[in-house]
Amino acid sequence: MAQSRPGKGLSQHVNWQAEMIHPLSDGGVETPASFVRKRFPLDAVAGDETLLISAQGLYICFINGQRVGHDLLTPGWTSYDARLAYQTYPVADLLTAGENTIDIWLADGWYRSQMMWAKHPIWNCWGDKIAAFAQIESAGTLVLATDATWTSGLLPVRKSGIYFGETFDARITLDETHGVETVAFDTSILIPHETAPVRELEALPVARQWQDDEGRTLVDFGQNSAGYVVLTLAGSAGSRVLVEHAEILDKNGVFNNANLRTAKAQLDYTLSGAGEEHYRPLFSFQGFRYARITLEGGAELKAIKSIPISSVHEPKSTFESGNPLVDRLVLNTLWSQRANFIEVPTDCPQRDERLGWTGDAQVFASTACYLHDSHTFWRKWLRDVMVDQRLDGAIPHVSPDPTRLHEDKVPGFYGSTGWGDAICVVPWTLYLHYGDSDVLAETLPAMEKWVDFVWSISNGPIVKPPRLRKHRGATFGDWLQPGGPSEKPLPTIGDDAAATIYLFIASTLTAKAARTIGNEAVAQRMEQRADVVKAAFREEFVTKKGRLVYDDQTSYALAILYDLLPEEQIAAASSYFRETIERAEGKIGTGFIGTPALLPALVKIGAYDLAEAVFLQEEVPGWLYQVKTGATTIWERWDAIRADGGVFDAAMNSYNHYAYGAVCQWLFEAAAGFRPDPENPGFKSIIFEPVILPRLGKVEAHHDAAVGRIAAAWQLDGEKVTYRVSVPEGTEGRLILADRYAAPVLNGKPITHTATLPPGDHTVEFSYSSAQNAAEKSGQLA
Ligand code: BGC
Repeated sequence: MAQSRPGKGLSQHVNWQAEMIHPLSDGGVETPASFVRKRFPLDAVAGDETLLISAQGLYICFINGQRVGHDLLTPGWTSYDARLAYQTYPVADLLTAGENTIDIWLADGWYRSQMMWAKHPIWNCWGDKIAAFAQIESAGTLVLATDATWTSGLLPVRKSGIYFGETFDARITLDETHGVETVAFDTSILIPHETAPVRELEALPVARQWQDDEGRTLVDFGQNSAGYVVLTLAGSAGSRVLVEHAEILDKNGVFNNANLRTAKAQLDYTLSGAGEEHYRPLFSFQGFRYARITLEGGAELKAIKSIPISSVHEPKSTFESGNPLVDRLVLNTLWSQRANFIEVPTDCPQRDERLGWTGDAQVFASTACYLHDSHTFWRKWLRDVMVDQRLDGAIPHVSPDPTRLHEDKVPGFYGSTGWGDAICVVPWTLYLHYGDSDVLAETLPAMEKWVDFVWSISNGPIVKPPRLRKHRGATFGDWLQPGGPSEKPLPTIGDDAAATIYLFIASTLTAKAARTIGNEAVAQRMEQRADVVKAAFREEFVTKKGRLVYDDQTSYALAILYDLLPEEQIAAASSYFRETIERAEGKIGTGFIGTPALLPALVKIGAYDLAEAVFLQEEVPGWLYQVKTGATTIWERWDAIRADGGVFDAAMNSYNHYAYGAVCQWLFEAAAGFRPDPENPGFKSIIFEPVILPRLGKVEAHHDAAVGRIAAAWQLDGEKVTYRVSVPEGTEGRLILADRYAAPVLNGKPITHTATLPPGDHTVEFSYSSAQNAAEKSGQLA
């Protein structure tokens, strides 16, 4: 690929003298892992020795037998052919005057272990040679660098893979049996690692342990997560321990991991027999709540715990209400973010997928920023998305994209509206949450190319995606939109409407981004395009009476939320919208792209009570059903476990998908009532516009933004609401109370429905009318 790509390595100037060295002991993918080694003398340790290191494949570095740093799965996951991260570590305290030894352990990782699922698995995605690249510097002079003089040998890691898990034989010692070869490597793709490292989080102890009929040990850690078990073992040399992983037990309490598909996700450890042994996988992780342990040859399990890992470490928000199911739903979302924010925002952490799905990312972007500091995480990912963008502007379904270099095997894995729009939605979300306009400047060209790609699907404002996935411009529509009972299905949105709505959203966001950074030409072009698409949408999909042609919840939710309807038709469309909810017996009728819009759109048409009812109902499809059914993370499907306890088809059924957790954005922005002000983003100005949900009883939430802690809480006394907010120093609050809330009083003084809140704590009192809510619910008040 001759032409340089946006997002390609932006490495600060490093005088690279190292060579990329491939261990000649290596037998290729899915064979024993290798190490490379160098012994080197030092007259003295200066104290500022710094290691700069990267690899093709995953690496762990040891100096004089001690591990360097605590980062996991280094160098991380990027679109390796164009961007390869390196880490920098101070290593003086590991060095000694005299003889030193450095070992770099290498394994397949995302670079060459299986990527993609059974239908079209790909090995050696980014290359077939694992290799190390490292240099130690002191005061700007080179102390050591990887070159052809290093040795290599095999590791106790006999096989490893992201999906596979790891086979480890502790009897194996590190023998230097081979040399290395230098491989061609373009240092300009090297970039300093761009986000927080993957680290271990607090351990999850055993919640329950029992034996099954075959004498295997079953362990429940009480929390579904992504990470690994840590074993303490004893036994003779050659005895063995197998560990399998599952997210659920079936309705008979039996261990069930059919949903992992071709991901073996297994640990296989052979003991060395040297007293008490401790083991955790080095080059893989699993998505699980339950572990099943088989002991062979007299091996003894002395202790086990589950260690979650993640690139996000410290939660930045809390949300509590009077409904424990709702509070658990927020916690489940936080756990799903942790499990799916391991270097890349993935769809799921357990099966033979675990890919940076763009659609899931865009719907979850804002929630992610509320729950954790996700700024650099998203920025890093956007650079991979831009590398993977196709020349015609198509954005890949996933990034880093394993298919881009293997289009012969998996053609056309790009260009879906609702998914590719992540290139517009995520940057704008970072601008709102962090006031980051640089990301707008960096991504604007990619946004524009994407909008032009979508327009080119049908060469016009009405986008007519082809039905078959392999064809250019095919879309996932509103993925997993529930269609109701098969014998009398409910309407779902057509691909053309979903695609056209997203062309409007993308054009609008691109225009806003361009205007924000002062790119007048692009702003105007995109504003005109948005206007053309809006007019065409109204012509094509809105009847004279204000009904949307597909007449489903997603159509109304998106069209209303993004102001696609003419003013004079909103009232009529709103009552059709209500009917779609009633037709679904007050339940959700939206999939991946419709769901985040559903509740905000209901609030927008004043159907507060209906929004509350849809959110709080506890049957399938619904957010709280899964919590009530014992979920500790967010499910991919509303009906992943049926009411009779039966498990939905394992072919595509993850119990740890954050997409539907995107509802947390609404909990913070409506139920707690605070959000960033686009006029002064990064929470320099904070909009407080609460939506009181009486059946929640009370809400208390805070968000630790860069500007400080933003807090909001309300409680009821009959129909009287007391709403307390905290505005951080150096910021300003803008209070907006809906007309329905009567007699507002701010810090004891009557106010109109808006007010400016200086830094500090404020108390707002007002009343809501349950009668009004009830009337609305029954649609009496249009
Ligand atoms: C993934 C989802 C993704 C969807 C799109 C699934 O396999 O798990 O996260 O959005 O495909 O089709």
